[in-house]
Amino acid sequence: MDDLFSGLDKAEEEMAEGAWLLRRYAFDNAGDLLAQIEGISATAPFRHMVTPGGFSMSVGMTNCGPFGWVTDRKGYRYQKTDPESGQPWPAMPETFLSLAIDAAKDAGYADFVPNACLINRYEPGAKMSLHQDKDERDFTNPIVSVSLGLPATFQFGGINRGDPVRKYPLSHGDVVVWGGPSRLFYHGIMPLKEGTHDAAGRARFNLTFRHAAL
Ligand code: SIN
Ligand code: FE2
Repeated sequence: MDDLFSGLDKAEEEMAEGAWLLRRYAFDNAGDLLAQIEGISATAPFRHMVTPGGFSMSVGMTNCGPFGWVTDRKGYRYQKTDPESGQPWPAMPETFLSLAIDAAKDAGYADFVPNACLINRYEPGAKMSLHQDKDERDFTNPIVSVSLGLPATFQFGGINRGDPVRKYPLSHGDVVVWGGPSRLFYHGIMPLKEGTHDAAGRARFNLTFRHAAL
């Protein structure tokens, strides 16, 4: 007999060729990931970086790992040190690394080893406009993105800014991996709704793992 409800508990959804939504993939690690974020941000605090155009981003950001993504009036780039302290970014915790490697592998990217992890903190109202992740120079590697805390609406479009955009609800523990034909697809986060999450409080955290080349 056909299982009429088999679609409902499906954990994986293909969003586009090469792009996968792995629902609840990081759920069991979430408490550990949040504790690590707290430790990292004690050394390299969340800050609202300024875009080259002079706008302050609504999302608070920090990094861990060998390279960190930064923006200021001079442009977007990766660098080995925190511009606030001049010190190297905090090390990437082992749990971050193994989660990113495992998720990439399950999405079909067996060789991915990230060397950068951008940590985004969204408070209600914060958003990230549609953009491409294209500062890595090396586009053979996928992006692995982990959602924690308050739910958000992820927008995933196509290779051109004007391509149709689909909306996906992302919640605590969800992982999105995109690479290959969808590596440079436009994506963003709609303004975060008001709320309080049991484990993360009045915030959403997002870990974005990349392989950056200088
Ligand atoms: C990003 O595109 O860097 C962040 C995406 C997200 O917060 O889920
Ligand atoms: Fe992005």
